[in-house]
Amino acid sequence: MQKSAPIGIFDSGIGGLTVAHAIKNALPNENLIYFGDTAHLPYGDKSTATIQAYAVKIADFLLQQGCKVIVIACNSASAAANELLKEYVASRATIINVIEPMVKHLSETCNGQSVGVIGTKQTVNSGIYPTSIASIKPDMKVKALATPLLVPMIEEGFLHNRIAHDIIHKYLHDDQLKNIDALVLGCTHYPLIQKEISDYYKGAVNVLDSSTITADFLKNFLSDNDLLNESQDEGKSRFFVSDLTDSFAHSAKLFFGEPVVLEKYQLWE
Ligand code: DGL
Repeated sequence: MQKSAPIGIFDSGIGGLTVAHAIKNALPNENLIYFGDTAHLPYGDKSTATIQAYAVKIADFLLQQGCKVIVIACNSASAAANELLKEYVASRATIINVIEPMVKHLSETCNGQSVGVIGTKQTVNSGIYPTSIASIKPDMKVKALATPLLVPMIEEGFLHNRIAHDIIHKYLHDDQLKNIDALVLGCTHYPLIQKEISDYYKGAVNVLDSSTITADFLKNFLSDNDLLNESQDEGKSRFFVSDLTDSFAHSAKLFFGEPVVLEKYQLWE
Protein backbone atom coordinates (compact mmCIF):
# COMPACT_ATOMS: atom_id res chain seq x y z
CA MET A 1 0.00 0.00 0.00
CA GLN A 2 1.37 3.41 -0.98
CA LYS A 3 1.97 5.84 1.88
CA SER A 4 0.88 8.75 -0.30
CA ALA A 5 -2.46 7.10 -1.14
CA PRO A 6 -5.51 9.04 0.10
CA ILE A 7 -7.63 8.32 3.15
CA GLY A 8 -11.24 7.61 2.19
CA ILE A 9 -13.96 8.78 4.56
CA PHE A 10 -17.67 8.18 4.11
CA ASP A 11 -20.91 9.04 5.80
CA SER A 12 -24.64 9.08 5.10
CA GLY A 13 -24.32 12.78 4.31
CA ILE A 14 -22.50 15.82 5.53
CA GLY A 15 -22.45 15.07 9.30
CA GLY A 16 -19.33 12.95 8.77
CA LEU A 17 -17.49 16.19 7.98
CA THR A 18 -17.03 16.50 11.77
CA VAL A 19 -14.90 13.34 11.54
CA ALA A 20 -13.18 14.52 8.34
CA HIS A 21 -12.25 17.78 10.03
CA ALA A 22 -10.84 16.02 13.08
CA ILE A 23 -8.78 13.82 10.70
CA LYS A 24 -7.56 16.86 8.76
CA ASN A 25 -6.44 18.46 12.04
CA ALA A 26 -4.70 15.33 13.32
CA LEU A 27 -3.11 14.44 9.95
CA PRO A 28 -2.61 17.68 7.97
CA ASN A 29 -0.31 16.09 5.36
CA GLU A 30 -2.74 13.35 4.34
CA ASN A 31 -4.87 13.55 1.20
CA LEU A 32 -8.56 13.00 1.97
CA ILE A 33 -11.44 11.79 -0.20
CA TYR A 34 -14.82 12.23 1.42
CA PHE A 35 -18.04 10.71 0.17
CA GLY A 36 -21.37 11.81 1.66
CA ASP A 37 -24.38 9.79 0.54
CA THR A 38 -26.75 12.75 0.63
CA ALA A 39 -29.08 11.02 -1.85
CA HIS A 40 -29.90 8.38 0.76
CA LEU A 41 -29.64 10.09 4.14
CA PRO A 42 -30.63 9.59 6.88
CA TYR A 43 -29.12 6.14 7.49
CA GLY A 44 -30.24 6.23 11.14
CA ASP A 45 -33.75 5.02 10.31
CA LYS A 46 -32.76 2.55 7.55
CA SER A 47 -32.51 -1.24 7.78
CA THR A 48 -29.16 -2.96 8.19
CA ALA A 49 -29.42 -4.60 4.73
CA THR A 50 -30.10 -1.27 3.00
CA ILE A 51 -27.17 0.46 4.70
CA GLN A 52 -24.90 -2.48 3.83
CA ALA A 53 -25.81 -2.21 0.14
CA TYR A 54 -25.03 1.55 0.12
CA ALA A 55 -21.79 1.01 2.02
CA VAL A 56 -20.46 -1.59 -0.45
CA LYS A 57 -21.10 0.72 -3.40
CA ILE A 58 -19.34 3.62 -1.65
CA ALA A 59 -16.42 1.37 -0.67
CA ASP A 60 -16.03 0.42 -4.36
CA PHE A 61 -15.83 4.12 -5.24
CA LEU A 62 -13.20 4.80 -2.57
CA LEU A 63 -11.19 1.74 -3.66
CA GLN A 64 -11.25 3.04 -7.24
CA GLN A 65 -9.71 6.26 -5.88
CA GLY A 66 -6.89 4.11 -4.47
CA CYS A 67 -7.58 4.80 -0.77
CA LYS A 68 -5.22 3.09 1.69
CA VAL A 69 -7.76 3.32 4.50
CA ILE A 70 -11.55 3.68 4.46
CA VAL A 71 -13.00 5.39 7.52
CA ILE A 72 -16.67 4.70 8.14
CA ALA A 73 -17.39 8.10 9.68
CA CYS A 74 -21.07 7.34 10.25
CA ASN A 75 -22.06 5.58 13.49
CA SER A 76 -25.13 4.03 11.86
CA ALA A 77 -23.05 2.62 8.98
CA SER A 78 -20.35 1.49 11.43
CA ALA A 79 -23.03 -0.41 13.37
CA ALA A 80 -24.62 -1.92 10.26
CA ALA A 81 -21.81 -2.54 7.79
CA ASN A 82 -18.40 -2.72 9.49
CA GLU A 83 -18.04 -6.53 9.48
CA LEU A 84 -19.36 -6.87 5.94
CA LEU A 85 -17.05 -4.13 4.61
CA LYS A 86 -14.01 -5.66 6.32
CA GLU A 87 -14.72 -8.94 4.55
CA TYR A 88 -15.57 -7.27 1.23
CA VAL A 89 -12.58 -4.94 1.09
CA ALA A 90 -10.20 -7.55 2.59
CA SER A 91 -6.55 -6.70 1.85
CA ARG A 92 -7.37 -3.90 -0.63
CA ALA A 93 -7.60 -1.28 2.16
CA THR A 94 -8.03 -1.11 5.93
CA ILE A 95 -11.48 -0.38 7.31
CA ILE A 96 -11.64 1.85 10.36
CA ASN A 97 -14.95 2.78 11.93
CA VAL A 98 -16.01 5.29 14.59
CA ILE A 99 -17.14 2.74 17.18
CA GLU A 100 -14.02 0.60 17.77
CA PRO A 101 -11.79 3.61 18.64
CA MET A 102 -14.38 4.81 21.18
CA VAL A 103 -14.71 1.34 22.75
CA LYS A 104 -10.91 1.13 23.03
CA HIS A 105 -10.79 4.61 24.59
CA LEU A 106 -13.50 3.69 27.12
CA SER A 107 -11.78 0.46 28.05
CA GLU A 108 -8.54 2.37 28.73
CA THR A 109 -9.99 5.34 30.60
CA CYS A 110 -13.31 4.47 32.30
CA ASN A 111 -12.66 1.74 34.86
CA GLY A 112 -15.81 0.26 36.44
CA GLN A 113 -17.86 3.25 35.39
CA SER A 114 -21.36 3.60 34.04
CA VAL A 115 -21.41 4.87 30.45
CA GLY A 116 -24.32 6.29 28.46
CA VAL A 117 -24.50 6.29 24.66
CA ILE A 118 -26.77 8.43 22.49
CA GLY A 119 -27.19 7.81 18.78
CA THR A 120 -29.63 7.04 15.98
CA LYS A 121 -32.17 4.20 16.16
CA GLN A 122 -29.94 2.05 13.91
CA THR A 123 -26.89 2.52 16.14
CA VAL A 124 -28.75 2.00 19.42
CA ASN A 125 -30.97 -0.88 18.26
CA SER A 126 -27.92 -2.72 16.88
CA GLY A 127 -26.64 -3.05 20.46
CA ILE A 128 -23.13 -2.55 19.09
CA TYR A 129 -21.82 -0.37 21.94
CA PRO A 130 -23.00 -2.56 24.87
CA THR A 131 -21.90 -5.75 23.05
CA SER A 132 -18.45 -4.44 22.06
CA ILE A 133 -17.76 -2.93 25.48
CA ALA A 134 -18.95 -6.07 27.32
CA SER A 135 -16.48 -8.16 25.32
CA ILE A 136 -13.51 -6.25 26.75
CA LYS A 137 -14.88 -4.65 29.94
CA PRO A 138 -17.60 -6.88 31.39
CA ASP A 139 -17.81 -4.75 34.57
CA MET A 140 -18.70 -1.54 32.70
CA LYS A 141 -22.40 -0.66 32.65
CA VAL A 142 -23.56 0.69 29.28
CA LYS A 143 -26.93 2.35 28.75
CA ALA A 144 -27.88 3.42 25.24
CA LEU A 145 -30.68 5.76 24.21
CA ALA A 146 -31.88 6.56 20.67
CA THR A 147 -32.22 10.33 20.25
CA PRO A 148 -33.61 10.61 16.70
CA LEU A 149 -34.81 14.22 16.89
CA LEU A 150 -31.26 15.52 17.33
CA VAL A 151 -30.11 14.95 13.71
CA PRO A 152 -32.88 16.98 11.98
CA MET A 153 -32.69 19.57 14.75
CA ILE A 154 -28.94 20.11 14.19
CA GLU A 155 -29.28 20.05 10.38
CA GLU A 156 -31.84 22.84 10.63
CA GLY A 157 -29.29 24.87 12.60
CA PHE A 158 -31.28 24.61 15.86
CA LEU A 159 -28.28 24.55 18.17
CA HIS A 160 -28.51 27.21 20.81
CA ASN A 161 -32.20 28.17 20.96
CA ARG A 162 -35.02 27.28 23.36
CA ILE A 163 -36.35 24.41 21.23
CA ALA A 164 -32.90 22.79 21.03
CA HIS A 165 -32.44 23.27 24.76
CA ASP A 166 -35.78 21.57 25.53
CA ILE A 167 -35.18 18.61 23.20
CA ILE A 168 -31.66 18.05 24.57
CA HIS A 169 -32.89 18.26 28.16
CA LYS A 170 -35.84 15.93 27.51
CA TYR A 171 -33.54 13.23 26.13
CA LEU A 172 -30.77 13.59 28.71
CA HIS A 173 -33.33 13.48 31.52
CA ASP A 174 -34.45 10.01 30.37
CA ASP A 175 -34.26 7.30 33.07
CA GLN A 176 -32.00 5.29 30.75
CA LEU A 177 -29.22 7.86 31.23
CA LYS A 178 -29.52 8.16 35.03
CA ASN A 179 -26.30 8.11 37.08
CA ILE A 180 -23.83 7.87 34.21
CA ASP A 181 -20.17 8.90 34.56
CA ALA A 182 -19.50 9.36 30.84
CA LEU A 183 -21.65 9.95 27.75
CA VAL A 184 -20.63 8.85 24.26
CA LEU A 185 -21.78 11.13 21.43
CA GLY A 186 -22.52 8.20 19.11
CA CYS A 187 -23.49 10.21 16.04
CA THR A 188 -21.64 12.41 13.55
CA HIS A 189 -23.86 15.40 14.30
CA TYR A 190 -23.62 15.60 18.06
CA PRO A 191 -20.23 17.38 18.39
CA LEU A 192 -22.15 20.50 17.30
CA ILE A 193 -24.17 20.39 20.54
CA GLN A 194 -21.37 19.08 22.77
CA LYS A 195 -21.32 22.31 24.78
CA GLU A 196 -25.08 22.22 25.43
CA ILE A 197 -24.78 18.58 26.54
CA SER A 198 -21.80 19.33 28.83
CA ASP A 199 -23.69 22.31 30.27
CA TYR A 200 -26.64 20.06 31.09
CA TYR A 201 -24.37 17.87 33.23
CA LYS A 202 -22.53 20.89 34.70
CA GLY A 203 -19.20 19.13 34.19
CA ALA A 204 -20.22 16.03 36.23
CA VAL A 205 -20.25 13.73 33.19
CA ASN A 206 -17.38 13.22 30.76
CA VAL A 207 -18.86 13.93 27.31
CA LEU A 208 -16.92 12.00 24.65
CA ASP A 209 -16.73 13.03 21.00
CA SER A 210 -15.96 10.12 18.68
CA SER A 211 -14.57 12.33 15.87
CA THR A 212 -11.37 13.31 17.71
CA ILE A 213 -10.96 9.86 19.25
CA THR A 214 -11.30 8.25 15.80
CA ALA A 215 -8.79 10.71 14.29
CA ASP A 216 -6.22 9.86 17.00
CA PHE A 217 -6.85 6.14 16.50
CA LEU A 218 -6.31 6.54 12.74
CA LYS A 219 -3.09 8.48 13.29
CA ASN A 220 -1.73 5.73 15.56
CA PHE A 221 -2.78 3.06 13.07
CA LEU A 222 -0.98 4.80 10.16
CA SER A 223 2.11 5.41 12.26
CA ASP A 224 2.26 1.83 13.65
CA ASN A 225 1.91 0.40 10.13
CA ASP A 226 4.36 2.77 8.47
CA LEU A 227 1.58 4.23 6.31
CA LEU A 228 1.87 7.95 7.13
CA ASN A 229 2.18 10.17 4.06
CA GLU A 230 5.77 11.41 4.06
CA SER A 231 5.04 14.53 2.01
CA GLN A 232 5.60 17.75 3.92
CA ASP A 233 2.99 19.55 1.78
CA GLU A 234 -0.47 20.24 3.10
CA GLY A 235 -2.78 17.38 2.08
CA LYS A 236 -5.44 17.87 -0.59
CA SER A 237 -9.07 17.13 0.19
CA ARG A 238 -12.01 16.43 -2.11
CA PHE A 239 -15.59 16.17 -0.94
CA PHE A 240 -18.06 14.21 -3.05
CA VAL A 241 -21.78 13.91 -2.42
CA SER A 242 -24.40 11.78 -4.17
CA ASP A 243 -26.86 14.69 -4.26
CA LEU A 244 -26.12 18.40 -4.04
CA THR A 245 -28.46 21.16 -2.92
CA ASP A 246 -27.90 24.66 -1.51
CA SER A 247 -28.94 23.33 1.87
CA PHE A 248 -26.21 20.63 1.86
CA ALA A 249 -23.64 23.19 0.74
CA HIS A 250 -24.68 25.48 3.60
CA SER A 251 -24.64 22.71 6.23
CA ALA A 252 -21.24 21.49 5.03
CA LYS A 253 -19.56 24.60 6.42
CA LEU A 254 -21.38 24.14 9.71
CA PHE A 255 -20.10 20.56 10.13
CA PHE A 256 -16.59 21.09 8.73
CA GLY A 257 -16.09 24.37 10.58
CA GLU A 258 -14.59 26.04 7.51
CA PRO A 259 -15.64 26.49 3.85
CA VAL A 260 -15.92 23.27 1.85
CA VAL A 261 -16.49 22.78 -1.87
CA LEU A 262 -18.89 19.87 -2.42
CA GLU A 263 -18.75 18.03 -5.76
CA LYS A 264 -21.70 16.03 -6.98
CA TYR A 265 -20.80 12.47 -7.96
CA GLN A 266 -23.48 10.29 -9.55
CA LEU A 267 -22.80 6.95 -7.86
CA TRP A 268 -26.38 5.78 -8.33
CA GLU A 269 -28.37 6.03 -11.59
N1 DGL B 1 -24.32 9.92 10.20
C1 DGL B 1 -25.36 9.33 11.01
C2 DGL B 1 -24.74 8.68 12.25
O1 DGL B 1 -23.65 9.04 12.68
C3 DGL B 1 -26.39 10.36 11.43
C4 DGL B 1 -27.26 10.85 10.28
C5 DGL B 1 -28.08 9.76 9.65
O2 DGL B 1 -28.97 9.18 10.31
O3 DGL B 1 -27.82 9.46 8.50
O4 DGL B 1 -25.33 7.79 12.81
